[in-house]
Amino acid sequence: MATDELFDERALFKFTSGLYVVSAADGDEVGACIINTGLQVTNKPFQVEVVVNKENHTEQVIEKAGHFALCPLTQDVDMLYIGRFGFRSSADIDKFDGVKTETTSLGDPYECEHAASVIACEVRQTLDVGTHMIFVGEVKEARPLSDVQPLTYGYYHTVLKGKTPPKASSYIG
Ligand SMILES: Cc1cc2nc3c(=O)[nH]c(=O)nc-3n(C[C@H](O)[C@H](O)[C@H](O)COP(=O)(O)O)c2cc1C
Repeated sequence: MATDELFDERALFKFTSGLYVVSAADGDEVGACIINTGLQVTNKPFQVEVVVNKENHTEQVIEKAGHFALCPLTQDVDMLYIGRFGFRSSADIDKFDGVKTETTSLGDPYECEHAASVIACEVRQTLDVGTHMIFVGEVKEARPLSDVQPLTYGYYHTVLKGKTPPKASSYIG
């Protein structure tokens, strides 16, 4: 960790965020992964952004499909769920196999038991930021799904004792 006077990475630990699953389908090809980089960027029109590592299968599927679903997770999520969506790849497994799944109006699957809400987005802009791509999507469908508290990254670290994998933009090493 770099800790000289002008650059102490611990400053970035103070940032807060939620945890989300972003998912997309392009024909039979499906990608879904956990991100902590979902954010609303405008309200006229409603737009959100997600930051996805180019080595994640989900990144390639969003790019091809041109749309994605975004679900803020609920606090009652378990570590098996985190393991499936955040530490394994859709290139190797069907992450929606055996879980309660629905599909947005744009055709993207999402898991409904641990989703606080779902929004369906059409990609409007793509920004290459090196290791990751930023997708800005216009919200075409938005529905609350649960009254359970949304999961924050802070709760994930302090209560669930969760780890951050290398492909997350917040990974420190
Ligand atoms: C807590 C947590 C936060 C994460 N944040 C991000 C993120 O913001 N962007 C990203 O691309 N990957 C993030 N990841 C990593 C992906 O979820 C992970 O690499 C996943 O296995 C990719 O799956 P895929 O190959 O099916 O796309 C995060 C994982 C966890 C557990």
